[in-house]
Amino acid sequence: MHELTTKNVIVTAATSGIGEAIARLLAARGAAVVLSGRRESKLADVVADITRTGGKAIGVAGDVTDENHARRLVDTAVERFGGLDAAVNTVGGFGEAGPLTGISLAGWRATLDLNLTSAFLGAKHQVPAMVARGGGSIVFVSSFVGQTVAIANTAGYAAAKAGLEGLATTIAVEYGAQRVRANVLVPGGTDTPSNVANAPDATPEVRAHVERMHALGRLASPNEIAQAALFLVSDAASFVTGTQLRVDGGVSIMG
Ligand SMILES: NC(=O)c1ccc[n+]([C@@H]2O[C@H](COP(=O)([O-])OP(=O)(O)OC[C@H]3O[C@@H](n4cnc5c(N)ncnc54)[C@H](OP(=O)(O)O)[C@@H]3O)[C@@H](O)[C@H]2O)c1
Repeated sequence: MHELTTKNVIVTAATSGIGEAIARLLAARGAAVVLSGRRESKLADVVADITRTGGKAIGVAGDVTDENHARRLVDTAVERFGGLDAAVNTVGGFGEAGPLTGISLAGWRATLDLNLTSAFLGAKHQVPAMVARGGGSIVFVSSFVGQTVAIANTAGYAAAKAGLEGLATTIAVEYGAQRVRANVLVPGGTDTPSNVANAPDATPEVRAHVERMHALGRLASPNEIAQAALFLVSDAASFVTGTQLRVDGGVSIMG
């Protein structure tokens, strides 16, 4: 059982799916959480749920592609909770999909901004606060798509997610001596609104196909992914840095 009672943690994408599950789990384990998402009312609902049950949470609404938002999240952790110990940079999304030759430059850039530049901006402001605290843990949420499995029509998303590995390993090397760890969490298909199995036009066959891609024959619940984030944030992972943690139901090992 990982306890986080002394940890102050930023969690992005806390208004839905994996990020919301991470926010709720970390808070339930005692972390003080600074939560990010664009939808203010949904963010307020998650914060209210956590505080009603005795947890510590503050919501900061904003867009992760905006450097000012990245800075505000860190400032909030420092000013309201006294410092920053960890960040789970969860935000991501497919962006413009389709065959490579049909992807617009604007669409490509938007996908990289959302999935990769947001992670850079987050880490750029999180690292100094963690160094000032004597160390910390940065987690980037990637995907099996691009990281371990190639799927057609996802070039921008795949390239951005693969880029997270280079970002994490470089941070791990640059700041390891100052006790900052950086890792990539690689989920498999997870039962959230953005999974293709939950698209408005998804048929039962689509869901069955996605499930069959995994050795375990099903999607993850968001909470199963959150358990891995809890581990990476906690002191149980104190010697884990610069690595990818697959929590993917075996999707990466299927032939
Ligand atoms: N679901 C899967 O099968 C799966 C598999 C592998 C990896 N992943 C990865 O896991 C992460 C979370 O995915 P999910 O499926 O849990 O997503 P989701 O349920 O669709 O939620 C997306 C979240 O991202 C936030 N968000 C989107 N754009 C944002 C922006 N520009 N600024 C701030 N927040 C933004 C949304 O909040 P607002 O709308 O309130 O802004 C929402 O909280 C992503 O990185 C995704 O690539 C998902």
